[in-house]
Amino acid sequence: MLSISVKEFLFWKKKQLSKGGDNQSFALLLDCIGGVSNSDLSLLGINPENKIYLKKNLDHLASIWEDHLLSCSPIQYLCGITFWRDLKLQVTDNVLIPRPESELIVDIVFKIFGKKSQKVFFAELGTGSGAISIALALAYPLWDGIATDIDQDALEIAKKNYINASQHSNLKFFCGHWWTPLESYKGKLDLAISNPPYIPQDTYEKLPKEVKNFEPKIALLGGEDGLKHIREIIQNAPLFLREKGWLILENHYDQGEKVKQIFINNNFKSVEIVNDLSGVGRFTIGRYK
Ligand SMILES: C[S@@+](CC[C@H](N)C(=O)[O-])C[C@H]1O[C@@H](n2cnc3c(N)ncnc32)[C@H](O)[C@@H]1O
Repeated sequence: MLSISVKEFLFWKKKQLSKGGDNQSFALLLDCIGGVSNSDLSLLGINPENKIYLKKNLDHLASIWEDHLLSCSPIQYLCGITFWRDLKLQVTDNVLIPRPESELIVDIVFKIFGKKSQKVFFAELGTGSGAISIALALAYPLWDGIATDIDQDALEIAKKNYINASQHSNLKFFCGHWWTPLESYKGKLDLAISNPPYIPQDTYEKLPKEVKNFEPKIALLGGEDGLKHIREIIQNAPLFLREKGWLILENHYDQGEKVKQIFINNNFKSVEIVNDLSGVGRFTIGRYK
């Protein structure tokens, strides 16, 4: 541990932030690499003569910050960590950085099943870092879940995140294309969830470079109209869901009505578009018959 005065630290912090970037990213760097959390920081201003203890020296932290500003590489990848709901997750450039709006998927599940639900068998298709499945497996220790992804490297990260977060063994990880790894679970799922790649081709080309140059294309691009994967997931869902099983999908901000129609065309009932916190129809849910 290195110690410096609070006064010196605050001066250095102001200088770093004057170079650019946002407070939240800087806070993540300080927390994950520097070992100084947000709550430590809020106490700092009180007595500038106090000492602050850092896991890495200021030059090291400044060099990561400059790398972030110059290359536009997301700070989460540079630190190897992100926070999502109450989870601290490892991330590499093999996985999408889980987004705050996706946190609501877990709340949708709470709303449908209640917080003390009996046994449910669920699958998440395209788990990435494992965020959604891990949150559900932790919230519902009695449930059993399967998290899948087409990318084995992503699954390795998800497995590590699960082991770090949980002492249970109610989540399994399978590799493969959408429903393929679930062949032996046909008609057995009470719940399936996916935040699939849904960005249309032309939008993908115009994504900010911190996304397009760093996050996996396979996690973002949803074909020409963005709905390629969503269509495939919905069309095959009836084979895998139990009667009255739920399918919950995240979609792009303007896809709600189209996704709702695909659900209806595939005989789903109780189909509903659910808004995110900014009022955007970000999720579509439905129940198979
Ligand atoms: C938008 S990311 C979502 C990741 C994570 N569930 C989340 O919400 O942060 C989509 C995920 O689907 C995976 N994926 C893409 N194509 C797939 C396919 N054909 N079959 C299974 N998974 C796929 C990607 O590797 C990626 O991890």
